[in-house]
Amino acid sequence: MQNFVFQNPTKLIFGKDTVKQLQNEIPQYGKNVLLVYGGGSIKRNGLYDNVLKNLHAIEANVFELSGVEPNPRVTTARKGIEICKKEKIDFILAVGGGSTIDCTKAIAAGAKSSHDIWDIVTKKAQAEDALPFGTVLTLAATGSEMNAGSVITNWETKEKHGWGSPHTFPRFSILDPVNTFTVPKDQTIYGIVDMMSHALEHYFHHEDNTLFQDEMVEGLLRTVINTGPKLLNDLENYEHRATILYCGTMALNGMVNMGYHGDWASHNLEHAVSAVHDIPHGGGLAILFPHWMEHTLDTDVSRFKQLAVKVFNVDPSNKTDREVALEGIQALRDFWNSIGAPSRLADYDIDKDSIDEMADKTVIARPEFGNFQSLTRDDAVAIYKASL
Ligand code: NZQ
Ligand code: ZN
Repeated sequence: MQNFVFQNPTKLIFGKDTVKQLQNEIPQYGKNVLLVYGGGSIKRNGLYDNVLKNLHAIEANVFELSGVEPNPRVTTARKGIEICKKEKIDFILAVGGGSTIDCTKAIAAGAKSSHDIWDIVTKKAQAEDALPFGTVLTLAATGSEMNAGSVITNWETKEKHGWGSPHTFPRFSILDPVNTFTVPKDQTIYGIVDMMSHALEHYFHHEDNTLFQDEMVEGLLRTVINTGPKLLNDLENYEHRATILYCGTMALNGMVNMGYHGDWASHNLEHAVSAVHDIPHGGGLAILFPHWMEHTLDTDVSRFKQLAVKVFNVDPSNKTDREVALEGIQALRDFWNSIGAPSRLADYDIDKDSIDEMADKTVIARPEFGNFQSLTRDDAVAIYKASL
């Protein structure tokens, strides 16, 4: 285990009827509130009205930015930054999934910076401050509600990059499982794949003595594997929604990965695919992650074997470590297929013609990527080819 400092300042407010906590949390920041949301799901399920009721109760001056896209665009963040500067916004409230929250982080940082937000996203400039913001989460997936990361797409250059800053933790996040009842089946599946992928990204590392961290990651994976299918058969089940919501947050809020660095190559590979093809993040991960595993298996077979045995209950007797490891990868693939996740790039009509373009994007920020095994553009090409 490496030395580490852990600090996560986000106040997590979890449970039924917690949206009314907005009335306690927001007034300390001021009256001018920018409400940021996506394409309208919150209007259809009544959450928008509920949020506004609470904002009106504290006599907030509410400004709105709607239409944040899945895979949020830098152009939308710029619109939000303009509103913040013009209207002297004191506080931003994101109501939505990871895309709305990520866009809000970019707005919050951009509103306090003289740099263009794309320069901050691409790390040419640094966020030196950010407007305070909070979230009402509506989709269990990214963990953005309790981390400082944000992933922004530039559709003109077809680039999608993750960035973050100590200033971009939400001040609070309100997680009412009921607000996730209306998430459609496909988005629920993508969310399950995404949170499992975060756990898996953590899992592949070479640090020793991570006994408790491993147990936490394995426990999270087993919980999602056990609960996910039950939830998909009963989308309005409070207990299952709550379990999945909590797992999504815990998978990427820093709690399970203290003292070591995970891999994150699969996320880089997926961001390149969705930068070019605008596909759902979780869908891309379901396709790519098992192929990344097969590609890097021999870096440390024992990690894959441990996953197979402890998460997928593979019986190791009379088998080589490699056979056990491969059975585990197949079990992961089978699980994702069984819940209806895509398994080939062809499922999104992506063919060999775009492999070069996608591979170029994987090395835009740096020539090599991935901590468990360092990958190059050639590795990206090989993994995309296997995923066709
Ligand atoms: O836009 P609306 O109308 O709200 O509809 C959304 C959207 O179409 C819908 N939705 C959300 N909550 C709903 C709902 N529909 C019905 N009822 C509800 N309660 O779901 C669709 C997808 O929403 P989105 O926010 O895009 O999904 P997700 O939370 O999966 O976010 C994906 C984005 O997050 C990034 C991804 O790359 C992608 O851009 N990531 C962010 C991370 C982070 N900040 O830490 C880490 C992740 O690895 C990921 O890369
Ligand atoms: Zn992810």
